[in-house]
Amino acid sequence: MSGFFISFEGGEGAGKTTQIKAVEKFLTEKGYSVVVTREPGGTYGAELVRSVILSGGAEQYGTAMEAILFAAARNDHVEGLIRPALEQGKVVLCDRYIDSSRVYQGVTGQLEPDFMDNLERITIDGIKPDLTLILDIPAEAGLARANLRRGNEIVDRFEKETLSVHEQRRQAFLRLAEEESERCKVVNAAQNIDGVSKDILAHIDVLLASHSPKGA
Ligand SMILES: Nc1ncnc2c1ncn2[C@@H]1O[C@H](COP(=O)(O)OP(=O)(O)O)[C@@H](O)[C@H]1O
Ligand SMILES: [Mg+2]
Repeated sequence: MSGFFISFEGGEGAGKTTQIKAVEKFLTEKGYSVVVTREPGGTYGAELVRSVILSGGAEQYGTAMEAILFAAARNDHVEGLIRPALEQGKVVLCDRYIDSSRVYQGVTGQLEPDFMDNLERITIDGIKPDLTLILDIPAEAGLARANLRRGNEIVDRFEKETLSVHEQRRQAFLRLAEEESERCKVVNAAQNIDGVSKDILAHIDVLLASHSPKGA
């Protein structure tokens, strides 16, 4: 497998989608073949599941049901898009991945660690990110950005939760980053867009250096 896989994590409004575009531009200009994708979603089947989850349609069936739906979507995404892209030597940039499940369903959804670990292992079957960028911002500031962006559209299943739940998620992402400090890098996302990009690109430079592309 010659490509590499970068996931972007963090709360609502942290700047994941904004920064992915900047990284896509940076890597494309360097000559990499880049695939931008997101979770839940990324493939036809997974996007169908996305609309069920984010509309809140599955909420009444409980957190375990939602976790299994996320896992089903992820499995389709991994096998239908991420693994093939990596095998073709591409760089995959993914907006949310396993860490969002660990935080949203595992921590704030209070599902059993064993259940979550097994679901993750079976679902991704070895496809772990080479680098995970955790965009960190106080929940209140992130939500303010997300509200501005959304305009008149209705809040989704996860955005609508209380400030304290959003802040618990933020703390859970930070704990994850400590537990898996090799893979996960925390970036101060409260800076302006260029400041955040600069910090992200510094982490990506380290990854590129360790992944010496063929012939370079
Ligand atoms: N560093 C930043 N400073 C100020 N506004 C930002 C910053 N990064 C993103 N935004 C804006 O905040 C909103 C949410 O950003 P977005 O990238 O969609 O976040 P996410 O994908 O993490 O929910 C967008 O309107 C975006 O233009
Ligand atoms: Mg986004």
